[in-house]
Amino acid sequence: MAKTTSKKPAKKSKVSPSFANTFYVTTPIYYPNDVPHIGHAYTTIAADILARWNKLLGKKVYFLTGTDEHGKKLQETAEKVGKKPKEFIDALIPEFKKDWERINAKYDHFIRTTDKQHEQVVQEMLQKSFDNGDIYLGEYEGLYCVGCEAYYTEKDLVDGCCPIHKKPVEKLKEKSYFFKLSKYKDKLLKLYKEHPEFILPKERANYVIASVKAGLPDLSISRTSFDWGIPLPFDKKHVCYVWFDALFNYYSGTQIKGKEEFWPANIHLIGKDILWFHVVYWPAFLMSVGLDLPKSVFAHGWWTVNGDKMSKSLGNVVKIDKLVGIAGVDSARYFLFRNTAFGQDGDFSETALIERHNNELANKLGNLVSRVSALAERYGLEKTSNSLLPKLAIKKIKSHYDNYEFDKALNEIFAFIDICNEYVQTNKPWETENKKVLYELADSIKAFTILISPIIPETAEKISKIFSFDLNIDQIEEPLKVSKIIKAPILFQKIEITKQTELKVPKKKIETKINKPAIPGIVSMAEMIKYDDFAKLDLRVGKIKSVADIDGADKLYNLSVDLGKTLGTKTILAGIKQYYKKEELKDKLIIVITNLEPRKMKGLESQGMLLAASNEEHTKVILISPSADIEVGSTVG
Ligand code: ME8
Ligand code: MG
Repeated sequence: MAKTTSKKPAKKSKVSPSFANTFYVTTPIYYPNDVPHIGHAYTTIAADILARWNKLLGKKVYFLTGTDEHGKKLQETAEKVGKKPKEFIDALIPEFKKDWERINAKYDHFIRTTDKQHEQVVQEMLQKSFDNGDIYLGEYEGLYCVGCEAYYTEKDLVDGCCPIHKKPVEKLKEKSYFFKLSKYKDKLLKLYKEHPEFILPKERANYVIASVKAGLPDLSISRTSFDWGIPLPFDKKHVCYVWFDALFNYYSGTQIKGKEEFWPANIHLIGKDILWFHVVYWPAFLMSVGLDLPKSVFAHGWWTVNGDKMSKSLGNVVKIDKLVGIAGVDSARYFLFRNTAFGQDGDFSETALIERHNNELANKLGNLVSRVSALAERYGLEKTSNSLLPKLAIKKIKSHYDNYEFDKALNEIFAFIDICNEYVQTNKPWETENKKVLYELADSIKAFTILISPIIPETAEKISKIFSFDLNIDQIEEPLKVSKIIKAPILFQKIEITKQTELKVPKKKIETKINKPAIPGIVSMAEMIKYDDFAKLDLRVGKIKSVADIDGADKLYNLSVDLGKTLGTKTILAGIKQYYKKEELKDKLIIVITNLEPRKMKGLESQGMLLAASNEEHTKVILISPSADIEVGSTVG
């Protein structure tokens, strides 16, 4: 994309020419407060698949992963076990690296935000943004517990008191530097409009655009209340907000010898929990410092385990040992990308993994390779033209990879494996001893193995040795060289599903909401919907004119909301009384669904619904804006 700086207005951006022959993919940098689990593995394997795919295409590839090591949370986690943050984290890094080796993720560089080089880059960026007039000193207001020397949010409190000291908290103000996020609202909207590939899957963009349109308050980007962070170069009493620090890893990771050419990234792979940071803050920060923007941010779905949200307290967190211990690394990788479309939420169960391992990898792929190699060992191969190959949808599969549709690529590959297995059945080479048929089959195995190699690299490597071919995209349609074949070892040992298989009977699937912090805006998408469905909603900006209690209702407020000239003022009954004081709501802007059927509650009629998000503790946060530059009654969407 073209350079955009805070001074020059953004031009219609061009795709950077470098995207043609280089490919730069990133994962989030994970918090090292514990070892990784299946959720982290998912993003990392996806990045690995894309890195391998693009290498196969002959591109120069750079795959970056790492850890996000600053911030209050990590400082506290370390303190709990009586360690200094760095000491605590240093002990976990080898675990991360070992786990990424176990899942066969071949990253090129592992970045840590405590790397001196990264810290330097972040300080340079802070200074640049400051010099460009995008950072100013203001005041941060929060609920402070002196006992803890820490800020709490409303939801942390127990009966209005500090959860640890059980004493009332004070509303305190602290000096903080702010980033002028509000200034980038129009530039961001322009970016989303001109580059629909910036937010992927595309369906996730609607919500982001609506939230950005509703207004972007400036962002507090420094703290003085703790010190585990990067000091601001222009005021060393402050440390940098962890997301400013963390997001710049993607850039600092390229500011090392020989990697400069990879900026900007082709794709940042993330989970949907951190979409807002990546598609709102990140491009705004980059525009502020005048760097090129990444091409795409892809936010994949969320994994549950047997229908439950993973959590330490439920004891159902699937760690990497467990994941690869069930049926091996390739079966784990295969399962994660076959079972669920990339972008959608997925549910993990050991039984489901074993079933796919048995039915598809062992019975279909494994069996074919084993039969063909055994017969080829006995009878040999004789070169001929391969009548099966035209049935392999090579072009389609390539485009599925390029569009992050790994499940579809696998479907096509397995459709072809079925065709090969049928060909064995009908031609019975064990009776006919037909070396030409065996050649066609071996040549077909070569073709699909190359295509599936990014997903099951270990197995692909073994198959390529048996039939003596290179895992190289040019070899797909290049006739296999006849060589002496030795029967393949069993590639996928079938696994019996026993009563001991922990997750044999999947528990009733519970509708799990992905609970995440409600601010900044989080996209919680249960399922993909068509744009037309979304368009049916009449979403508008409303202003809360008055707030009243309702007799006999301890959760509801009666809100009188101004929805502009056409709709006038409407009554909205909202279950947010536990979470907001009346005076916090008055005169605030909210987003309202205005075309819902009216609903009677407590003898009153609610004529709309406001948009609010739930977070972990089931508190509600209204998507609210104190002073957005938008007229009441404006449509959102
Ligand atoms: O957010 N399903 O780190 P984090 C799918 N440090 N993906 C999951 C998952 C699940 N159940 N659980 C985790 C942070 N993930 C920041 C990132 S980037 C500049 C800073 C994956 O350790 C998914 O990729 O909380 C998600 O976005 C990420 O782990 C969050 O990792
Ligand atoms: Mg997280």
